[in-house]
Amino acid sequence: MNKKKRPKISVYIALSIDGYIARKDDSLDWLDRVGGFDEDYGFQKLLDSIDALIIGRKTYAIASTVPDPYPGKRVVVLSNSLDSVKAGMELYRGDLEVLAEKLHREGIKHIWIDGGSTISQFLSLQLVDEMTLSIIPIVLGSGIPLFHAMGKEIPCRLLSSQSYRSGLVQQHYEIIKQFAESQDNIHFKLVDYGSEEYKKSVALREEIVQKSLGLSFASEELKLKDYIHIAGFLGLDLCATAVLVPEGDVLKMQRVATKTHLQNKGIGSALMVFCEEYAKKHEYTSIYCHAKGAAIPFYLKNKYILEGEPFDEYGISHHKMRKMI
Ligand SMILES: NC(=O)c1ccc[n+]([C@@H]2O[C@H](COP(=O)([O-])OP(=O)(O)OC[C@H]3O[C@@H](n4cnc5c(N)ncnc54)[C@H](OP(=O)(O)O)[C@@H]3O)[C@@H](O)[C@H]2O)c1
Repeated sequence: MNKKKRPKISVYIALSIDGYIARKDDSLDWLDRVGGFDEDYGFQKLLDSIDALIIGRKTYAIASTVPDPYPGKRVVVLSNSLDSVKAGMELYRGDLEVLAEKLHREGIKHIWIDGGSTISQFLSLQLVDEMTLSIIPIVLGSGIPLFHAMGKEIPCRLLSSQSYRSGLVQQHYEIIKQFAESQDNIHFKLVDYGSEEYKKSVALREEIVQKSLGLSFASEELKLKDYIHIAGFLGLDLCATAVLVPEGDVLKMQRVATKTHLQNKGIGSALMVFCEEYAKKHEYTSIYCHAKGAAIPFYLKNKYILEGEPFDEYGISHHKMRKMI
């Protein structure tokens, strides 16, 4: 994960159903299919929220045909081949992480990045926070792709999906932060009660959850036989665990734990996504948990909502939190 300070970085782009952002000849006439519906698809809201843009040279070539394409915004153009750009814009070549840190130091808070190859580079460097993808109802068959080979997977969380009268579907994703400590991809799976992986999960829970509560649940382990046991692995190492307890059409999530040195790196959020996918697949309507005070911000970030008043559990204040599936 990128720990250096940088502005928030957003993608906001239109693409065809088959993932192209322009025809091979750079033409964008197909975007007109969704024009004229008295709808700006959140564009003004995006413009109001950003203070700078970073665009690739090829996007610049199209944008610079308009007199003032991004009024009032700082614009940085990426290029190794250009010697200069329009007055009022800046040229940059080099390390994109260094650029992001520089803009942060200069007071920039929120950047919109544009251009397919540009976006793919930022994604592969784990420098993107969110993506708004507007899918135009057309299959182009060929063109300039949004996503280029990145050599890694980028897990995303769907924040919203909206369809418009024009047929445009807009998907808003948060990028789930990944884990620089390991080159291995994280993966989650269900583990069998009593298996070796289960025993490792119990050991991790003992270390993290039970010690933090000052309790041992060893005598309760047998009750867990019919529950759903989830374990996360970085390579071969177990790094996170949770238990889901079916209660009718609802799941109670409990005993959530991530290895101490791997906390705050997005593994817990990825675990939540796995639990939600499990719930969705098995038609549960919601997941709830009893969150300790210190864990509440984590669950809020993962879109859990507080329910009722705080209560005492194991002598510690907890709050019921729920996410609808
Ligand atoms: N559908 C939409 O909403 C939408 C939005 C934006 C753009 N577009 C279209 O997409 C096309 C452009 O996208 P694209 O993927 O072809 O290219 P792009 O990302 O706009 O530009 C790529 C160029 O940016 C420069 N560049 C990128 N990273 C760099 C770095 N780290 N250092 C220095 N230079 C760097 C390079 O220029 P040099 O070759 O000069 O080194 C590279 O060739 C255009 O047709 C545009 O109209 C569509």
